[in-house]
Amino acid sequence: MRDDRDRQSGSVRPGSLADAEAIATLAAEALPGAWSQASFRAHLERSSSRLWCAHRGPEMVGFLLAESAAAQLEIHALAVVPEARRGGWGTQLVRAALRFAWDADLDRVHLEVRADNEAAQELYHDHGFVVAGVRPRYYRDGNDALLLTLDLADPRPSGLRPTIASKKASAKEWLS
Ligand SMILES: CC(C)(COP(=O)(O)OP(=O)(O)OC[C@H]1O[C@@H](n2cnc3c(N)ncnc32)[C@H](O)[C@@H]1OP(=O)(O)O)[C@@H](O)C(=O)NCCC(=O)NCCS
Repeated sequence: MRDDRDRQSGSVRPGSLADAEAIATLAAEALPGAWSQASFRAHLERSSSRLWCAHRGPEMVGFLLAESAAAQLEIHALAVVPEARRGGWGTQLVRAALRFAWDADLDRVHLEVRADNEAAQELYHDHGFVVAGVRPRYYRDGNDALLLTLDLADPRPSGLRPTIASKKASAKEWLS
């Protein structure tokens, strides 16, 4: 079911500084208060920045912003517009980032997520991420941050494949 849905959903492709305004508009609804257009632009101006955008026809329905440094990829922001959620877009964006990390021979992918954000936690756990730590009362409203990490390091390729395969058998396909 999931893989059928993935194949039917439009396209996910790398983005650029030119997408700053569109992702800021999208984030204003999906991640209120967290990002301004200026902060997106500042990120996207760095050569270490990586952006993937999901498009349904002419409409941008989601994005994932990350940064690679010191053999690690940090996912800074992920969002899908409310009306397109549960359509596989978040999955496709995460997989684009993981493919990049794998191809670039990075050791680890990590991010912070609100402890009350079950949707994002489910999505990341499905791809083998585990909780590596907690930052108590990290957010302004007092919510904790969970540190999620996916270890891509030794031994390869078995380091990633069994982790993901054990979480979701269908995920085997996108790495092969
Ligand atoms: C988190 C988010 C990006 C998921 O995007 P999406 O396109 O809906 O994700 P998918 O359709 O690919 O769902 C993948 C899996 O995530 C989990 N999931 C997604 N939404 C969920 C929800 N509301 N409740 C529980 N699990 C959910 C499920 O395991 C789902 O698999 P399934 O549909 O086979 O059950 C989206 O909900 C969003 O933009 N939320 C607001 C911003 C946000 O929280 N960003 C993450 C910050 S770390």
